[in-house]
Amino acid sequence: MTDSSRLDEALAAAPAAVSGAATLAELDAVEKALLGDTSAIGEARRSMGSLDPADRPRVGAQLNTATKEIQGLLASRLSELEAQDEDRRLQDERIDVTLESITLQSGSLHLLQQTMNDIVDIFVSLGYQVATGPEAELAWYNFDALNTPPTHPSRLESDTMYLDFGDPADEVLLRTHTSPVQARWMEANDPPVYIVVPGKTYRLDTVDATHLPVFHQIEGLAVDENITFSDLKGTLAHWAREFFGPKTKVRFRPHFFPFTEPSAELDVSCFACDGGEPTCRVCKGAGWLEMMGCGVVDPNVLEAVGYDPAEVSGFAFGMGVERPAMVRHGINSIRHFVDNDLRFLRQF
Ligand code: PHE
Repeated sequence: MTDSSRLDEALAAAPAAVSGAATLAELDAVEKALLGDTSAIGEARRSMGSLDPADRPRVGAQLNTATKEIQGLLASRLSELEAQDEDRRLQDERIDVTLESITLQSGSLHLLQQTMNDIVDIFVSLGYQVATGPEAELAWYNFDALNTPPTHPSRLESDTMYLDFGDPADEVLLRTHTSPVQARWMEANDPPVYIVVPGKTYRLDTVDATHLPVFHQIEGLAVDENITFSDLKGTLAHWAREFFGPKTKVRFRPHFFPFTEPSAELDVSCFACDGGEPTCRVCKGAGWLEMMGCGVVDPNVLEAVGYDPAEVSGFAFGMGVERPAMVRHGINSIRHFVDNDLRFLRQF
């Protein structure tokens, strides 16, 4: 019988057709082709009426078995395709919660700021307060109140940057040291005074490996009853050992500053060679490193700010920040501090 052989053929081809369906839509089409009206099974069902009644139950049973078999194949392929579909969606819509978040690189303080903080911390731990003052300063505070007469060479335009030049009483300049804050503080506060003053300072220096026209200083001032030069020595020796290490020695060389008497320059023993190395890259064989100016506050300065030199005395010092930072870290040019080269800055 042709119909039954068409049915056999359809049944034989069904497993391959069903498993060949790669998507749900394709499976739909395969289902129509196998079970729809125009399929072998569909046609066989329609022609049942024309069959000999005696054959009908047998053919009907055959058709039912074939239909169930095909439906079984379709159902298992359907669940396979649905599972694949779900897998693909899970894959596509996957959120990787382990993905690293974008980390912003955090910067660090500039080495000069770190050095200032280190120095200031040493004095703060001795009980000093931190004071600040203006960078654009009156000549009065920068010079006159500090016992520096109008004829002093540091007041020349070749040394000092003036913002308003002329009548000495009203001259405005970029402060050449942090010492004017001494005068400002004493004018505004009664003794005792224990302050450190970190800040920017300006001088008309030509740029080279050790000079910049803008640099930093830290001023120190102690005024109290019975302050002597020994207090100055003890305090600065303590600073040197804290900053450069416990073996550091200090040396005071006589010097002159208009606002202190006696005055000295403080050298510290070279921390790299301890003074014994003629080829030392830090002190170049000198054994000592020049660190700061200091001295006992001149009575004229105390008087200029309204203190009574018969009642109180004091000492003061002023150190650069660039130099200790350079010697401590082996930096060979001061220009590195302002070049903004990240390869330099990232090292600290
Ligand atoms: N102001 C001086 C300078 O800049 C340093 C100094 C400060 C010296 C305080 C003595 C006392 O060179």
